[in-house]
This record gives sequence, structure tokens and C-alpha cells, in this order.
Amino acid sequence: TFSKWKATKNLAKVGAVGFVGYTFYSMYEHSHPVMDPTPADPSKKTIVILGSGWASTSFLKSIDTELYNVVVVSPRNYFLFTPLLPSTTVGTIDHRSIVEPIRFITRHKPNEVKVFEAECTEIDSDKKIITIVDNSEVKGDRATSTISYDYLVVGVGAQSQTFGIKGVEEYGCFLKEVWDAQKIRTKLMDCIETAAFPGQAAEEIERLLHMVVVGGGPTGIEYAAELHDFLAEDLSAWYPELVGKIKITLIEAMPNVLPAFSKQLIDYTESTFKEQHISLHTKTMVKEVKEKEIIVQGPSGEKEAMPYGLLVWATGNTTRPLIRNLMAQHPETQNIRRGLAVDDWLRMAGTNDIYALGDATATKYAPTAQVAAQQGKYLARVFAQLHATEQYESELELAATPEEKAKKARKLQKAQDIKPFHYSHQGSLCYIGSDKAIADLPFGPGNLASGGVATYAFWRSAYVSSLFSARNKWLVVTDWTKKTFWGRDISRE
Ligand code: FAD
Ligand code: NAI
Repeated sequence: TFSKWKATKNLAKVGAVGFVGYTFYSMYEHSHPVMDPTPADPSKKTIVILGSGWASTSFLKSIDTELYNVVVVSPRNYFLFTPLLPSTTVGTIDHRSIVEPIRFITRHKPNEVKVFEAECTEIDSDKKIITIVDNSEVKGDRATSTISYDYLVVGVGAQSQTFGIKGVEEYGCFLKEVWDAQKIRTKLMDCIETAAFPGQAAEEIERLLHMVVVGGGPTGIEYAAELHDFLAEDLSAWYPELVGKIKITLIEAMPNVLPAFSKQLIDYTESTFKEQHISLHTKTMVKEVKEKEIIVQGPSGEKEAMPYGLLVWATGNTTRPLIRNLMAQHPETQNIRRGLAVDDWLRMAGTNDIYALGDATATKYAPTAQVAAQQGKYLARVFAQLHATEQYESELELAATPEEKAKKARKLQKAQDIKPFHYSHQGSLCYIGSDKAIADLPFGPGNLASGGVATYAFWRSAYVSSLFSARNKWLVVTDWTKKTFWGRDISRE
């Protein structure tokens, strides 16, 4: 017993030292001043990267800035770890814990990378020029500019799909960006406080406390799950008079939720939702959204009005206008409506110098962070090989002896042999509420499907380990700990 006690004590000591060390490392990593980087070199080619999401950030992290001048253009000056975004809608995690400034990457690069917080509004693929606009609240005298590129890397993602359904843009809340999550959180608390207003009629209270989620993909499911936890763990204690009146409904057009997951996990999710009193309406389409009610069409074909307080719209992605305009410049090669058609090397069909990746493209892969991140890393390798190709081509021309020529030719051939993109699926995870998650993991030639509390522990560790920086990891773990001790904050922002 004594040796066990000693071993435990030693383990605790090692853990404590590791914890303190990690904290200091994380502080150092984030705030350590970096030496002045080498300025841009006009003799090098310029890559302009559009976006600061999964695809572009992964590319930026891997691209060798000693080979190219690099410019980043994005309306948001940070990277967002989207898998934990649903947790920020109810305050399980603070949104600042899952973002990291893009300059955090660029300042660790040996050569200067220019970052412009702006939206690219036009791509002129003939002149190789883009137009950028400062769409932020604070504008200087100059808010529009142009940038020339040698290569353009398009990672602008996609926008929320509405299928043109009337009223969605006006009354629904999307869940794609930090400001969407903030809006949902504010509106949710507003609905609850308004329902608690003295003299509110019973029918109006019922409407205000009806939270509707449209779309049974992973976004809709994870949001409904987080909302359930918030109601069960926090709101029931703060608003005892409203307990039992708050209702969550999830509407899905297809016969099941989560079509990309295994059948047993779909059944498990649906039964967990039933236990959590989340009302699931499958085979039901939303036809119109009004200020206080939605019109839905159920399996019988009958249309019905459903009053709601908060509406979260999560019916997938559609192409951004910038991408649609770029496609229109190349009608003969760009005819897939889902996004930019690219070849196996991520080069946009019909062009030589535009590459595209992530949700902005239409490929055989699902629009996920996993795909986007792997594409970004891959594309950085493609650019290293393109640079090597150019270098060996000019060295071959200058080679004096036949031996030297043969050597350079071999090197050139190797550099030109660029392998196509290959996606390696690491599995799919989804949080379903009450500390339960589901996971579909590749296992040998098949698949391992698991669900429950243990899978949630795996979900947590998988996401913490893939968070962007040590600082993010530290903050997310702290947020989870805070929530365990003090619950979620119900203050309206
Ligand atoms: P994004 O990450 O959306 O980045 C696009 C970037 O382009 C942004 O920086 C944007 O500001 C910028 N941009 C937009 N317009 C312009 C413009 N005109 N000019 C310049 N820049 C522009 N996937 C998973 O694999 N696992 C998950 O657990 C997971 N969870 C998710 C949870 C939620 C709530 C959501 C919404 C998505 C989730 N996804 C997940 C999907 C994943 O987030 C996307 O597939 C991924 O973000 C795609 O990366 P991207 O770089 O193509 O686009
Ligand atoms: P999605 O496209 O996966 O799901 C949208 C759902 O909405 C579909 O099931 C569709 O049938 C339904 N729908 C469409 N129109 C409707 C209507 N009018 N009424 C009712 N239902 C309607 O979209 P989602 O969930 O936003 O995901 C987008 C991408 O991001 C996917 O590739 C997904 O895998 C990925 N993602 C992954 C997560 C994870 O791995 N945990 C979390 C969130 C997103």
C-alpha cells in the first residue's frame, strides 16, 4: 500500500510539474516577440491566399515563405475552430477560447507575410488581379484596393444554404461564424427573459420558449444537444417557473437525422433525443419562415404553422457570390453548382494559376474541416514542388556538361512528379447531449461505431488535441472546468 501511495504521489508531482510547464510554454508561445522577418522579395512569385479558415490556415502554416511572397486576405483576422462553435452558443465554452489570430502564424514565419483584413469582392483571372474591400465597421478614407497575384489560393469556404425559402435570412439564425453563435446566445436569453415578463399570456410564453432547429445534419444535432444541456443543467435552476415549458424541436426533411453516420448511431441519436425530450420531426420540410411562426409540411403533405421563439437554421452549405462570379468567367469548365471544379492537384479547372480548396470546391469529399486541413497541407507541398520544378528547369538550361545535364534532368523529373491529393479519413464525431457523443471510426477494412459517455471522453480529448494552439487548449479545458464548478453564465450579451 505504501509503495502504491508513493507512486501515486510521484505521479501527481509529475502531473503538477507538467501542468505548470505547459502553462508557461503556452504563455511563451503566445506572447514571445519574434525577430523581424525578412521583407518580401520582388524577384519571387506572389501567392495570394483568400480566407483564414481551415483550408487557408492549414496552407499558410505549411507554405515555405522562403520560396514565395505570401499575402493573406480575409474579412476575419482569425482562425475559428468550428467543431466547438456549437458549445459557444450556450456558454459551455467562450468563443475567444476557440479563435486564434492569423498573425499568430504569420509572425512565426521566417519571411514577411502581409495580412489584410478585407473581403475579396472580385477575381479577374485574365489580369491576375483581385479587388479587396474593407467591410468592417471602421473604415479609413480608402476602403477598396487591388492586389496582383502570380498564384491565387481560394479558401473562402461556403455560406449557409437557405434554398431561397422566404423569411430564413430575415428571421432565422445561422451557425457558421462567431457572430452567429453570439446572436443565438443573445436571442435565446432574450426569449427566456421576455417569457418571464409579468403578465405574459400563456400562449405567448409557449411560443417564446419554443426553440426550433432546422436541419438534422451534425450542426443542427450538436446545437440541439448543447441547448438541451443548457436547459437541463442551468436554466432549470435559474428559471424554476419556466421549467417544463421550454421545448426544443428539430426538423429534418429526410427520414433520418445524420445521414452520413452508421444506422446504429442514427438510432442511438434519435433515442437519446427522445430521452432528452427533444421533439424530432423527420420527413418534414420548412416551407416559409415568418416573424413568429414557421410553415412546415409534414409526411402527410399537410401544411402547418408552428410558432417559435428562436429559430436556428442549419441546412448545409451553398456557394458564395464571389465563387459564383469566378465560375461564370469559365463557363465551359465550371459547371458544377456546388462549388469550384478542381483537378486532383486542386487546380481550378480552366485556369493555370488559381488553386482552390475546402468548402469552396465541389469534390467527391464531404465539406469538412478534416478535408480542408489535409488539402491545405497538401497544396503547400505542391507549391514546394512547383518552385523546385522552375528552379531545376533554369539550372538545366545553364548546365554545362552532359553529366550535369543528366543530374538536373533527374531532379527535374522528380520535382515534376506531383502526386494527386489523397484524403485520409480519420473518422466522424458528433456530440448528442447529456455527456454522450457518437463516433464512426475507420477500423481495419471496416468501421467502428460507438456511442455514449466514454465516446464523449474520446470526443473531448480528440478536439482538445486538435485545437490550434497551446493557449486554445488551455482555455477550452479551463472553460469546461469552470462550467463544472459554476455552471454556464446566463447573462445576456
Ligand atoms: P471556412 O473554415 O468557412 O473558412 C472560410 C474563410 O474564408 C473564412 O476565414 C472567411 O472569413 C473567409 N472568406 C469568406 N469570404 C471571403 C472573401 N470574399 N474573401 C476573402 N476571404 C473570405 N468539420 C469537421 O470535419 N469536423 C467537425 O467537427 C466540424 N464541425 C463543424 C461545426 C460547425 C458549427 C460548422 C459550421 C462546421 C463544422 N465542420 C466540421 C465543417 C468545417 O467547419 C468546414 O468544412 C470547414 O470550415 C471548411 O473550411 P474552409 O477553409 O473551406 O472554410
Ligand atoms: P448538412 O448538409 O450535413 O445537413 C443539413 C440537413 O438539413 C440535411 O440533413 C438536410 O436533409 C436538412 N434540410 C435541408 N433543407 C431542409 C428543410 N427545408 N427543412 C428541413 N430540413 C432540411 O449540414 P450541416 O449540418 O450544416 O453540416 C455541413 C458540413 O459540415 C457537413 O459536411 C458536416 O459533416 C460538417 N460538420 C461536421 C460536424 C462534425 O463532424 N461533428 C459538425 C458540423 C458540421
